[in-house]
Amino acid sequence: MPKLVIRGKNRLAGKITVQGSKNSSLPIIAATLLAGGEYHIDNVPDILDVRKMLGILKDLGSRVDFTDSKLIIRTADRIDSGDMPDCRKLRASILMMGVLMGRRGCFDMPYPGGCRLGTRPVNYHIAGLKQYGAMIEETESSIFGKCDSLTGCEYTFAYPSIGALENMILAGVLATGSTILNNCAKEPEVCDLCDFLRKMGAKIYGDGTDTIVIEGVDKLTPADYVIPGDRIVAGTYMIACAAVGGNILIQKIEPRRVRYLTKLLKKTGCHVFTDSVNNEIITLADGGGRAVPYICARPYPEFPTDLQPQTMVLLSVLHGSSKLKDEVFVERYGTAKELAKMGADIQVEEDGVYIKGSARLTGTTVKAGNLRQGAALVIAALAADGITIIEECRHIMRGYEDIARDMRRLGADIVWKNETENVDISG
Ligand code: EPU
Repeated sequence: MPKLVIRGKNRLAGKITVQGSKNSSLPIIAATLLAGGEYHIDNVPDILDVRKMLGILKDLGSRVDFTDSKLIIRTADRIDSGDMPDCRKLRASILMMGVLMGRRGCFDMPYPGGCRLGTRPVNYHIAGLKQYGAMIEETESSIFGKCDSLTGCEYTFAYPSIGALENMILAGVLATGSTILNNCAKEPEVCDLCDFLRKMGAKIYGDGTDTIVIEGVDKLTPADYVIPGDRIVAGTYMIACAAVGGNILIQKIEPRRVRYLTKLLKKTGCHVFTDSVNNEIITLADGGGRAVPYICARPYPEFPTDLQPQTMVLLSVLHGSSKLKDEVFVERYGTAKELAKMGADIQVEEDGVYIKGSARLTGTTVKAGNLRQGAALVIAALAADGITIIEECRHIMRGYEDIARDMRRLGADIVWKNETENVDISG
């Protein structure tokens, strides 16, 4: 796996255009299986997870042309029953359940892989799809489902799961009759999927609220779409600026998508200016603000779990004590161990992470471990004295097109190295 070598303490300055959203692209790419024909999707990030999702589509007979963020997908008029081995490498492959159930009335797929963030069950996906009348069976390594015809239903999510909701929507748009979904996830990426499906002719109402109503249609047709900017990547760069200090302009990001983070960064003493007409955000920071005493990651519109590890780094370098809790993935605290190696004063307890700020971080060798942990450690390295080596960086490539390219544009000293290349971290 490639590694990143970073010399810290450069202030960040300059402007950057944020890549398209990973978590909008993945369900939208899956949705192209719902109707045969040609789709043009722009601003798609060139990241490993997108490449894996496209691999699954190819296994199912789609033809794919992906260059310079422009994606053309030609979906077959008949969907092959491919093996889909790439499902094992990608959590979002679970969306094949809803898509294939809707289009073909059956699916047979390996269990999805993805970031290890603690246990990631699929019980809401299965319980939901069964409400449409589907029969679903699980073995140790795979899931199989079948249904002669899906019938609209009412289903209430025990928890507002994003993926389970997306599966219910993907299956429900071609079901017979009406579907009412309660306690729905309200993340902007769910709304992006619904916008795309409406362009394909689906009838979906209420996305972005607790209750979504779907009126099933007989047939969908291909549509074109432009993927919005990635709020988690933009948020990562805003947090980096707050931790290290600097003055950065992020372009192509709708400010409403990072509203909670903007409020939080202002509380720490940063200046954040948003322009909702041109979709730009300026972050100004001196790199030495005050910590916020308590932050808890919860479903949208509250603070996102996908920015929790990056925020852990920020709280370690700001002044004051704080507690950080994740109520979405309650075991997602792996970054703390790596951060402690760099000198952070941080304690993981059952009810969250306790951080004593003002840490003087020092470069050392750490492991990315998973996608957002990797991004968080990049921020820690940028704020640290000396050189940091981040190993296992393939995880970062799942969600960031090229974090080193982006950070270099902002003035950081960061390069990719091969796993086997030796690096002298003495000076
Ligand atoms: N859950 C269950 N049973 C289920 C489904 C979910 O118990 O059947 C639990 C999960 O274990 C978790 C919570 O519900 O504790 C929320 O999970 P959710 O289903 O909302 O997550 P997801 O759809 O699997 C998406 C993102 C993740 C992001 C989470 C939470 C995509 C492709 N992935 O995952 O993104 O962390 O929502 O916001 O949209 C990332 O980008 O780094 C990433 C991991």
